[in-house]
Amino acid sequence: MTDAAKPRGELTLRTLAMPGDANPAGDIFGGWVMAQMDLASGIRAAERAKGRVVTAAVKEMAFELPVKIGDTLSVYTDVERVGRTSITLIVEAWAHRSRYAKMEKVTAATFIMVALDEEGKPKQVPEE
Ligand SMILES: CC(C)(COP(=O)(O)OP(=O)(O)OC[C@H]1O[C@@H](n2cnc3c(N)ncnc32)[C@H](O)[C@@H]1OP(=O)(O)O)[C@@H](O)C(=O)NCCC(=O)NCCS
Repeated sequence: MTDAAKPRGELTLRTLAMPGDANPAGDIFGGWVMAQMDLASGIRAAERAKGRVVTAAVKEMAFELPVKIGDTLSVYTDVERVGRTSITLIVEAWAHRSRYAKMEKVTAATFIMVALDEEGKPKQVPEE
């Protein structure tokens, strides 16, 4: 892995791509990768918000490379902006290939998470 191909942000979630997450050709479903990114985004945003958060929006996502059964998926998150009630994160998914020591970026997207109060209404993100 070269410096130019370094993940952006903090490693927030690692998981293994299993046969149940794939089509018959062994390619992992894009929806599964998106779900892992959503989980990572939720973990990181909830830490920053010190409470409950919800996904408000996900901006354009393109899959540059496939994820295969047996790959380890690592999701990195970087808090780009904190608004009044929203937290914008850059989320990258990287695959660690099972047969060779190589990490490749599979996809990236911007996630907008919103902090919620107990009634499910947007609430101000506290100072860090
Ligand atoms: C997200 C949600 C809480 C926003 O509620 P709302 O009443 O529209 O709240 P607001 O208009 O005050 O927006 C709250 C914040 O979210 C941001 N926001 C809301 N929708 C957005 C969008 N589509 N894109 C970017 N930012 C958005 C606003 O800019 C605002 O940010 P700020 O406070 O930092 O300025 C509400 O739409 C909701 O509950 N949606 C369902 C979320 C959900 O269930 N997600 C999982 C889907 S399975």
